[in-house]
Amino acid sequence: MDLILLGPPGAGKGTQAKKMIDALHIPQISTGDILRAAVKDGTAMGLEAKKFMDAGQLVPDSVVIGIIDERLKEDDCAKGFILDGFPRTVDQAASLTEMLDKAGRKIDHVISIDVPDSDLMARLTGRWMCTCGASFHKLFNPSKVDGICDLCGAKLYQRDDDKEAAISVRLVNYHNQTAPLIDYYGAKKVLRSIPGTGTPDEIYAAIMAVVNG
Ligand code: AP5
Ligand code: MG
Repeated sequence: MDLILLGPPGAGKGTQAKKMIDALHIPQISTGDILRAAVKDGTAMGLEAKKFMDAGQLVPDSVVIGIIDERLKEDDCAKGFILDGFPRTVDQAASLTEMLDKAGRKIDHVISIDVPDSDLMARLTGRWMCTCGASFHKLFNPSKVDGICDLCGAKLYQRDDDKEAAISVRLVNYHNQTAPLIDYYGAKKVLRSIPGTGTPDEIYAAIMAVVNG
Protein backbone atom coordinates (compact mmCIF):
# COMPACT_ATOMS: atom_id res chain seq x y z
CA MET A 1 0.00 0.00 0.00
CA ASP A 2 1.82 3.11 -1.28
CA LEU A 3 0.12 6.20 0.15
CA ILE A 4 0.56 9.96 0.06
CA LEU A 5 -0.95 12.31 2.65
CA LEU A 6 -1.39 15.68 0.98
CA GLY A 7 -2.46 18.82 2.77
CA PRO A 8 -1.46 22.29 3.89
CA PRO A 9 0.79 22.95 6.91
CA GLY A 10 -1.20 22.00 10.01
CA ALA A 11 -3.73 19.85 8.13
CA GLY A 12 -2.92 16.91 10.40
CA LYS A 13 -0.66 14.85 8.12
CA GLY A 14 1.72 13.93 10.95
CA THR A 15 -1.10 13.30 13.44
CA GLN A 16 -2.87 10.93 11.04
CA ALA A 17 0.28 9.17 9.78
CA LYS A 18 1.18 8.24 13.37
CA LYS A 19 -2.26 6.66 13.83
CA MET A 20 -2.02 4.81 10.50
CA ILE A 21 1.36 3.11 10.97
CA ASP A 22 0.06 0.78 13.68
CA ALA A 23 -2.93 -0.32 11.60
CA LEU A 24 -1.13 -0.68 8.28
CA HIS A 25 2.36 -1.82 9.43
CA ILE A 26 4.08 0.45 6.93
CA PRO A 27 6.38 3.38 7.78
CA GLN A 28 5.61 7.10 7.87
CA ILE A 29 8.12 8.99 5.75
CA SER A 30 8.07 12.68 6.64
CA THR A 31 10.55 14.83 4.73
CA GLY A 32 10.02 17.52 7.39
CA ASP A 33 11.06 15.08 10.17
CA ILE A 34 14.08 13.87 8.14
CA LEU A 35 15.19 17.46 7.48
CA ARG A 36 14.71 18.47 11.15
CA ALA A 37 16.82 15.46 12.21
CA ALA A 38 19.57 16.62 9.80
CA VAL A 39 19.37 20.15 11.28
CA LYS A 40 19.66 18.70 14.81
CA ASP A 41 22.65 16.57 13.78
CA GLY A 42 24.31 19.64 12.22
CA THR A 43 25.01 17.92 8.89
CA ALA A 44 25.91 20.08 5.86
CA MET A 45 22.53 19.26 4.32
CA GLY A 46 20.77 20.18 7.57
CA LEU A 47 22.54 23.53 7.90
CA GLU A 48 21.64 24.40 4.31
CA ALA A 49 18.01 23.26 4.74
CA LYS A 50 17.52 25.21 7.99
CA LYS A 51 17.76 28.56 6.17
CA PHE A 52 14.81 27.63 3.97
CA MET A 53 12.78 25.94 6.71
CA ASP A 54 12.99 28.77 9.25
CA ALA A 55 11.78 31.22 6.59
CA GLY A 56 8.87 28.92 5.68
CA GLN A 57 10.29 28.30 2.21
CA LEU A 58 10.55 24.92 0.50
CA VAL A 59 13.94 23.23 0.51
CA PRO A 60 15.24 22.80 -3.09
CA ASP A 61 13.69 19.89 -5.01
CA SER A 62 17.07 18.22 -5.67
CA VAL A 63 17.69 17.82 -1.91
CA VAL A 64 14.33 16.30 -0.99
CA ILE A 65 14.11 14.11 -4.10
CA GLY A 66 17.53 12.65 -3.18
CA ILE A 67 16.31 11.98 0.39
CA ILE A 68 13.21 10.14 -0.84
CA ASP A 69 15.06 8.18 -3.52
CA GLU A 70 17.35 6.75 -0.81
CA ARG A 71 14.62 6.24 1.78
CA LEU A 72 12.22 4.31 -0.46
CA LYS A 73 14.94 1.75 -1.18
CA GLU A 74 15.09 0.71 2.49
CA ASP A 75 13.69 -2.69 3.46
CA ASP A 76 10.85 -1.36 5.62
CA CYS A 77 9.28 0.24 2.52
CA ALA A 78 8.97 -3.09 0.69
CA LYS A 79 5.29 -3.51 1.61
CA GLY A 80 4.37 0.16 1.34
CA PHE A 81 4.81 3.60 2.87
CA ILE A 82 2.94 6.69 3.99
CA LEU A 83 4.51 9.80 2.49
CA ASP A 84 3.90 12.84 4.73
CA GLY A 85 5.01 16.16 3.22
CA PHE A 86 6.37 14.76 -0.05
CA PRO A 87 5.82 15.44 -2.90
CA ARG A 88 5.25 19.17 -2.54
CA THR A 89 5.91 20.40 -6.07
CA VAL A 90 4.93 19.04 -9.48
CA ASP A 91 8.63 18.34 -10.19
CA GLN A 92 8.86 16.28 -6.98
CA ALA A 93 5.71 14.36 -7.99
CA ALA A 94 7.13 13.65 -11.46
CA SER A 95 10.38 12.37 -9.91
CA LEU A 96 8.42 10.14 -7.54
CA THR A 97 6.41 8.69 -10.44
CA GLU A 98 9.71 7.93 -12.21
CA MET A 99 11.23 6.26 -9.10
CA LEU A 100 8.16 4.10 -8.57
CA ASP A 101 7.93 3.18 -12.28
CA LYS A 102 11.52 1.92 -12.13
CA ALA A 103 10.63 -0.23 -9.12
CA GLY A 104 7.43 -1.53 -10.76
CA ARG A 105 5.28 0.24 -8.17
CA LYS A 106 2.59 2.87 -8.19
CA ILE A 107 0.78 5.13 -5.75
CA ASP A 108 -2.46 3.52 -4.55
CA HIS A 109 -4.09 6.56 -2.93
CA VAL A 110 -3.32 10.25 -2.51
CA ILE A 111 -5.41 11.40 0.44
CA SER A 112 -5.90 15.14 0.44
CA ILE A 113 -6.79 16.44 3.92
CA ASP A 114 -8.78 19.62 3.39
CA VAL A 115 -8.66 22.31 6.10
CA PRO A 116 -9.47 25.99 5.50
CA ASP A 117 -6.60 28.46 5.97
CA SER A 118 -8.61 30.18 8.72
CA ASP A 119 -8.09 27.10 11.00
CA LEU A 120 -4.43 26.47 10.18
CA MET A 121 -2.80 29.46 11.92
CA ALA A 122 -4.34 28.46 15.29
CA ARG A 123 -3.35 24.81 14.82
CA LEU A 124 0.28 25.73 14.15
CA THR A 125 0.84 28.54 16.65
CA GLY A 126 -0.59 26.27 19.40
CA ARG A 127 1.42 23.15 18.51
CA TRP A 128 3.98 21.86 21.05
CA MET A 129 6.38 19.06 20.12
CA CYS A 130 8.51 16.54 21.96
CA THR A 131 11.85 15.14 20.84
CA CYS A 132 10.28 11.65 21.23
CA GLY A 133 8.01 12.47 18.26
CA ALA A 134 4.84 13.21 20.25
CA SER A 135 2.89 16.32 19.34
CA PHE A 136 0.40 18.31 21.40
CA HIS A 137 -1.77 21.38 21.01
CA LYS A 138 -2.30 23.88 23.81
CA LEU A 139 -6.09 23.97 23.16
CA PHE A 140 -7.02 20.98 20.99
CA ASN A 141 -4.77 18.29 22.50
CA PRO A 142 -3.11 19.61 25.67
CA SER A 143 -0.52 17.61 27.58
CA LYS A 144 -1.58 16.62 31.13
CA VAL A 145 1.16 18.77 32.68
CA ASP A 146 1.72 22.09 30.90
CA GLY A 147 4.91 22.02 28.80
CA ILE A 148 5.76 18.37 29.62
CA CYS A 149 5.36 15.34 27.33
CA ASP A 150 2.73 12.80 28.52
CA LEU A 151 4.68 9.95 26.92
CA CYS A 152 8.28 10.47 28.04
CA GLY A 153 8.26 13.37 30.54
CA ALA A 154 10.60 15.58 28.46
CA LYS A 155 10.13 19.35 28.09
CA LEU A 156 8.02 20.32 25.06
CA TYR A 157 9.21 22.87 22.48
CA GLN A 158 7.77 24.83 19.55
CA ARG A 159 9.07 24.37 16.01
CA ASP A 160 11.15 27.30 14.70
CA ASP A 161 8.81 27.62 11.70
CA ASP A 162 5.63 27.71 13.84
CA LYS A 163 5.84 31.50 14.12
CA GLU A 164 3.17 33.63 12.43
CA ALA A 165 5.52 35.15 9.83
CA ALA A 166 6.86 31.76 8.70
CA ILE A 167 3.39 30.16 8.80
CA SER A 168 2.03 32.85 6.44
CA VAL A 169 4.83 32.11 3.95
CA ARG A 170 4.21 28.34 4.26
CA LEU A 171 0.51 28.82 3.46
CA VAL A 172 1.25 30.95 0.38
CA ASN A 173 3.79 28.38 -0.80
CA TYR A 174 1.29 25.57 -0.26
CA HIS A 175 -1.27 27.26 -2.51
CA ASN A 176 1.27 28.21 -5.19
CA GLN A 177 3.52 25.16 -5.28
CA THR A 178 1.76 22.19 -3.63
CA ALA A 179 -1.98 22.63 -4.34
CA PRO A 180 -1.36 21.99 -8.10
CA LEU A 181 -0.72 18.36 -7.06
CA ILE A 182 -4.47 18.02 -6.49
CA ASP A 183 -4.95 18.28 -10.27
CA TYR A 184 -1.80 16.21 -10.97
CA TYR A 185 -3.08 13.24 -8.95
CA GLY A 186 -6.71 13.90 -9.88
CA ALA A 187 -5.73 13.27 -13.51
CA LYS A 188 -4.11 9.98 -12.45
CA LYS A 189 -7.40 8.97 -10.72
CA VAL A 190 -5.75 8.28 -7.38
CA LEU A 191 -6.85 11.40 -5.47
CA ARG A 192 -9.36 11.20 -2.61
CA SER A 193 -10.25 14.37 -0.71
CA ILE A 194 -11.51 14.16 2.84
CA PRO A 195 -12.60 16.92 5.23
CA GLY A 196 -9.86 17.63 7.80
CA THR A 197 -11.96 19.67 10.20
CA GLY A 198 -13.52 17.04 12.52
CA THR A 199 -11.81 15.36 15.45
CA PRO A 200 -8.59 13.44 14.72
CA ASP A 201 -10.53 10.16 15.23
CA GLU A 202 -13.22 11.17 12.70
CA ILE A 203 -10.56 12.10 10.14
CA TYR A 204 -8.72 8.84 10.78
CA ALA A 205 -11.94 6.89 10.14
CA ALA A 206 -12.41 8.71 6.81
CA ILE A 207 -8.80 7.93 5.80
CA MET A 208 -9.13 4.25 6.71
CA ALA A 209 -12.37 4.03 4.72
CA VAL A 210 -10.40 5.16 1.65
CA VAL A 211 -7.49 2.81 2.38
CA ASN A 212 -9.75 -0.20 3.00
CA GLY A 213 -11.64 0.62 -0.21
P1 AP5 B 1 6.73 19.66 7.40
O1 AP5 B 1 7.32 19.19 8.65
O2 AP5 B 1 6.25 18.67 6.41
O3 AP5 B 1 5.60 20.71 7.74
P2 AP5 B 1 4.21 21.09 7.06
O4 AP5 B 1 3.83 20.45 5.78
O5 AP5 B 1 4.23 22.56 7.05
O6 AP5 B 1 3.17 20.44 7.94
P3 AP5 B 1 3.15 20.37 9.50
O7 AP5 B 1 4.05 19.29 9.98
O8 AP5 B 1 3.36 21.74 10.08
O9 AP5 B 1 1.60 19.98 9.73
P4 AP5 B 1 0.88 18.58 9.73
O10 AP5 B 1 -0.04 18.51 8.57
O11 AP5 B 1 1.83 17.45 9.93
O12 AP5 B 1 -0.03 18.77 11.02
P5 AP5 B 1 0.07 18.11 12.48
O13 AP5 B 1 -0.45 16.73 12.43
O14 AP5 B 1 1.37 18.35 13.11
O15 AP5 B 1 7.80 20.58 6.62
C1 AP5 B 1 8.49 21.58 7.32
C2 AP5 B 1 9.44 22.30 6.36
O16 AP5 B 1 10.40 21.36 5.84
C3 AP5 B 1 8.79 22.91 5.10
O17 AP5 B 1 8.25 24.20 5.34
C4 AP5 B 1 9.97 22.94 4.13
O18 AP5 B 1 10.86 23.99 4.44
C5 AP5 B 1 10.69 21.62 4.46
N1 AP5 B 1 10.17 20.51 3.65
C6 AP5 B 1 9.56 19.38 4.10
N2 AP5 B 1 9.21 18.59 3.08
C7 AP5 B 1 9.60 19.23 1.94
C8 AP5 B 1 9.49 18.94 0.56
N3 AP5 B 1 8.89 17.79 0.14
N4 AP5 B 1 9.98 19.84 -0.33
C9 AP5 B 1 10.60 20.96 0.08
N5 AP5 B 1 10.73 21.31 1.37
C10 AP5 B 1 10.23 20.45 2.30
O19 AP5 B 1 -1.04 19.01 13.24
C11 AP5 B 1 -0.80 20.39 13.51
C12 AP5 B 1 -1.40 20.77 14.87
O20 AP5 B 1 -2.82 20.67 14.79
C13 AP5 B 1 -0.97 19.87 16.04
O21 AP5 B 1 -0.81 20.65 17.19
C14 AP5 B 1 -2.13 18.90 16.20
O22 AP5 B 1 -2.26 18.46 17.54
C15 AP5 B 1 -3.31 19.74 15.75
N6 AP5 B 1 -4.33 18.94 15.09
C16 AP5 B 1 -4.15 17.88 14.25
N7 AP5 B 1 -5.34 17.40 13.83
C17 AP5 B 1 -6.28 18.20 14.40
C18 AP5 B 1 -7.71 18.22 14.36
N8 AP5 B 1 -8.39 17.33 13.63
N9 AP5 B 1 -8.36 19.18 15.06
C19 AP5 B 1 -7.67 20.09 15.80
N10 AP5 B 1 -6.32 20.12 15.89
C20 AP5 B 1 -5.63 19.17 15.20
MG1 MG C 1 3.92 17.28 10.04
